[in-house]
Amino acid sequence: NAPAFQRRSRLPFGAVGVTRADAITVPDGYTVDVFIPWGTPICGSYPAYLEDASNSAEDQAQQTGMHHDGMHFFPMDARFKGRKSDHGLLALNHEYVDSALLHPNGPSVQDGKRTKAEEVRKEINAHGVSVVEIKRNARGDWAVLPSARNRRITGATPMRIEGPARGHELMHTRYSPSGTTTRGTLNNCSNGYTPWGTYLTCEENWAGYFASRDAELPRHLERYGVGTAGRYGWETVPGDEFQRFDATTIGEDARSDYRNEPNTFGWIVEIDPFDPDSTPVKRTALGRFAHEGLVFAPAKAGWPVVCYSGDDSQNEYIYKYISRDRYRPLRDDSRLLDEGTLYVARFNPDGTGDWLALDFEDASFQQACLTAGVQFRDQGEVLINTRLAADIVGATKMDRPEWGAVHPDTGEVYFTLTNNSARQEANAANPRSPNPYGHIVRWREDGRNNIGTTFRWDLYLLAGPESDSRDPRGRSLDQDNVLASPDGLWFDDEGRLWIQTDMSGSQLSAGPFGNNQMLVSDPKTGQTKRFLVGPTGAEITGITSTPDFRTVFVNVQHPGEGSTPTQYTSVWPDGPRRRPRSATVIIRRKDGGRVL
Ligand code: FEO
Ligand code: CA
Ligand code: CA
Ligand code: CA
Repeated sequence: NAPAFQRRSRLPFGAVGVTRADAITVPDGYTVDVFIPWGTPICGSYPAYLEDASNSAEDQAQQTGMHHDGMHFFPMDARFKGRKSDHGLLALNHEYVDSALLHPNGPSVQDGKRTKAEEVRKEINAHGVSVVEIKRNARGDWAVLPSARNRRITGATPMRIEGPARGHELMHTRYSPSGTTTRGTLNNCSNGYTPWGTYLTCEENWAGYFASRDAELPRHLERYGVGTAGRYGWETVPGDEFQRFDATTIGEDARSDYRNEPNTFGWIVEIDPFDPDSTPVKRTALGRFAHEGLVFAPAKAGWPVVCYSGDDSQNEYIYKYISRDRYRPLRDDSRLLDEGTLYVARFNPDGTGDWLALDFEDASFQQACLTAGVQFRDQGEVLINTRLAADIVGATKMDRPEWGAVHPDTGEVYFTLTNNSARQEANAANPRSPNPYGHIVRWREDGRNNIGTTFRWDLYLLAGPESDSRDPRGRSLDQDNVLASPDGLWFDDEGRLWIQTDMSGSQLSAGPFGNNQMLVSDPKTGQTKRFLVGPTGAEITGITSTPDFRTVFVNVQHPGEGSTPTQYTSVWPDGPRRRPRSATVIIRRKDGGRVL
């Protein structure tokens, strides 16, 4: 007979059914409050949100951005390893913008060119990160404090470049001839946070913001998909602040144009949320790719820090970083992210795996370069070309690696692979070709404290309809948990795995899955239940909680996707005839207890 604490279900709520309601649906016993939707004034002169979207670019830089994504709650006393739960800083990403909703009448375009610099400036300012100081009152309600710590970081905020690619010839630009600074962070998808209390924002589909008209693209642009036109056409507007998105070779050398500007994107960016005057830092040792997020293994004093990041693109890779130096608690250890080794994963068919070093000084890496006929001059160039480096060592091509999460007790690492319509050949770790539904892989490192270069892996869950899926117990998914396109992933402090979905297109509009959702899965029992379903057109992404677990914050991104300036496919969260807005939602139990 199992003791009582084991018999008690660790998922004591009624599973929410599949629905296409334009609302947030949660189990009985819970409340949902909308918090800091796009346009909420948070700093400067606190300009009020104007419902016709007529706020200026300058207003937007003092309001929360669009398209909320990865997010982390920093307890106010985090620096002292406190557990304060009623007061903290919420840091969150704004991945991209829906220009049909950002401006009163959508974007102004003529002959393929953007005609209003002010609009483009507003789009740049609606990207990036928000930091807000928030407090919970006695009734349990949260509010943003008027605080000097509140801050917007945008697509134009000056940033420093650190690590092996700092000052590299391939980082020289007209803005920074020394290759040591750049402006802005873009397409910040998932996030991370360090053991020393800083926020990490991850640059995912940054390549789409740049254009080059060069007949032949260098490998550091071509391999990342830089095209001939930016997704919003920012490069079509005159002026240095916009022309930097045009990576065409124009001048005498790299210091006279922006051919290298895209090389200053694709990194993990570290932000000190407690110091509003700090300059964000791009940490190049962690590699350059479509970074979804970054997740740390639990840091132990006297051991190196270990973290993981996925490259969310079809047939790209999963990476691991091990710092050279050891972690010392209560010290600002940002230097741990500048000196270390980046590895890429190979999943072997027998359930073992290897971490392959992408290190200029490593003998087997040098051999792989020789065999492939690929040359790098230094580690900076290896990191600027991380994808190519991973190709030549023979890493395993994955089905779009999204978020990772590390089990708080076992150190096992879980990763979502959201889907891959382009897969032509299955492999053991990506068993379906094509893979429309996605899956979750997990591994256990052989080395203590996640140090080491070998691991053992298995598949935790195959997403999909009842007819084509597998739950952690080896059964088909059922009405309580069918899902597709898993994306967000997070462990609560009791080792329950929270899974968020990012379905789109026909998967969202028809079929068995309903709107995007969030589920909870218990690796102890394999039980998986749907906890939340989002409004029409929205993705559910980003999750964090207070240390007491009485508040869970979740982000709702792009409700009403596909809306026009006058016709909304969703009116969440403000109601009839009001434009849809991405927002954070606050989830609590009605009785004020732990959420789970
Ligand atoms: Fe921005 Fe990979 O999701
Ligand atoms: Ca994502
Ligand atoms: Ca996604
Ligand atoms: Ca998204």
